[in-house]
Amino acid sequence: MFKLRYQTPSDWAKTVLDDFDAFLIDHAGAEKKASGMAMSMALHYADKPDIVSAMIDLSIEELEHFREVVKLMTARQLQLQKDEKDPYVNQLRKQVRNGRDDYFLDRLLLGGVIEARGAERFGLVAAALPEGDSSAEHELKAFYQAITRSEDRHQGLFIELAENHFPAAVVAARLDQLLDFEAQLVSTLPARAALH
Ligand SMILES: [Fe+2]
Ligand SMILES: [Fe+2]
Repeated sequence: MFKLRYQTPSDWAKTVLDDFDAFLIDHAGAEKKASGMAMSMALHYADKPDIVSAMIDLSIEELEHFREVVKLMTARQLQLQKDEKDPYVNQLRKQVRNGRDDYFLDRLLLGGVIEARGAERFGLVAAALPEGDSSAEHELKAFYQAITRSEDRHQGLFIELAENHFPAAVVAARLDQLLDFEAQLVSTLPARAALH
């Protein structure tokens, strides 16, 4: 497991709680994209059984997250919306190098970094949500705690897969660069009621 190099300030969670409806809509989109991304990895690396198997499982798990978030949305009479550009993910994607091996390694490592940021931020949301008296409030907090654990596991999964295919030193060296880039990037993004 690695550590992110920029800590999201606590007022980010306040921004989220101030417009939780907007956050849920964005969160649903993020889970749907995560599921689609995992499925596209499975297809792209059809010759690598460990990737295929892990990415199908991941795709299903992210789709389950999507289903749960949509349930929360429906209870609040919120509708799904078309995907918005995610400046964070777009900028990270631009770091993916060409060349079959470099491209493969970068996609895995960025997957891990994005999961780690997701885990960090869902954790902040879970902590900021009120304990509440109602079962709905209880469930919402528990849901974000569970999501945090899940995305935390995914962070490890991507690194493990990278180490199945590349020497540990190569993985560590590239991860070092990407973590610096990610920290710099995320520190410049304005806080909004969205995952990124
Ligand atoms: Fe997820
Ligand atoms: Fe995930």
